[in-house]
Amino acid sequence: MAEAIRVEGLHKRYATVHALRGVDLAVARGEFFGLLGPNGAGKTTLIGILAGLVRPTAGRAAVMGHDVRRRWRQARRALGLVPQELVYDPFFTVREILWLQSGYFGLGRANRAWIEELLEVLNLTAKADANLHDLSGGMKRRVLIAQALVHRPPVVVLDEPTAGVDVELRQALWHFTRRLHAEGHTIVLTTHYLEEAEALCGRIAILHQGMLRALDTKAGLLARHPWRCLCLELDPPGAPLPEAVAALVSEREGGRVKLRLHRLNDQIGAVLDALRTAGLRIRDLRTEEPGLEEVFLELVHEAPAGEAAAAEREAG
Ligand SMILES: Nc1ncnc2c1ncn2[C@@H]1O[C@H](COP(=O)(O)OP(=O)(O)O)[C@@H](O)[C@H]1O
Ligand SMILES: [Mg+2]
Repeated sequence: MAEAIRVEGLHKRYATVHALRGVDLAVARGEFFGLLGPNGAGKTTLIGILAGLVRPTAGRAAVMGHDVRRRWRQARRALGLVPQELVYDPFFTVREILWLQSGYFGLGRANRAWIEELLEVLNLTAKADANLHDLSGGMKRRVLIAQALVHRPPVVVLDEPTAGVDVELRQALWHFTRRLHAEGHTIVLTTHYLEEAEALCGRIAILHQGMLRALDTKAGLLARHPWRCLCLELDPPGAPLPEAVAALVSEREGGRVKLRLHRLNDQIGAVLDALRTAGLRIRDLRTEEPGLEEVFLELVHEAPAGEAAAAEREAG
């Protein structure tokens, strides 16, 4: 596989916090890859290692085949990072920031046409001579994206780019990252918005407590859920349910009952028969597929509470 990113046995400890506990993963060139996890899962740490900003405690990481420690210059050049935090130098104008960034990568005047194009594409041209200090949060985020792309990196990593962003900018960001992907960039997007990962990403890794809980396509993750929901509206609303049906209830509000069936096709007939026998009328019926959110919650809650503590002790 032509790999954009490879991570092997990656560990990171900050003093007492074990942020990554042995992560292995590979992202192929041209993928739109989602890195999903709740706050504190280790997403920013993992990305920081890829970008050469965080030193791993153990393990290896490479970007476009360049080890981030031994060949850090090449690895850094291959990666464009849009950081989670809005960090910027308030004393420069937008254009100056981009020139500086360009210079940092040893790119001279020849790169200025590209910078103007980036300003244009990201709707920053009108603000190009404004100090970063005077820009709105949304505009600053656009500048961070331009900065990440100044050196035309093949791999673009966006760390929660839409956290706290308004709907309009979020749409614009989605559109822009899709375009980058279509133009051949490998995209790694971290987010804790499940709908975002669902809408954009081909494969999704779920990180939790510094460990990879799952790595699969969207369809693959959903297929891990063997169950389906059967939603019924029963009449009379408050009537007791037959025992076999009551055992399957996941939610109930008066006559509205949600059942969780492990094998929809085998069980649905038996459920309906039992209800009829009990003299209940079915006023409405529909089935529901589990979403990525259910899969995510299940994976995240699957981790026994003591597991993290045990892993911590084990690592000494
Ligand atoms: N510089 C740091 N010093 C100490 N602890 C840190 C530092 N950065 C992150 N952590 C801790 O490491 C864990 C993972 O954090 P992070 O990688 O930021 O997760 P995420 O981006 O998924 O929210 C958290 O418990 C966090 O508090
Ligand atoms: Mg983070």
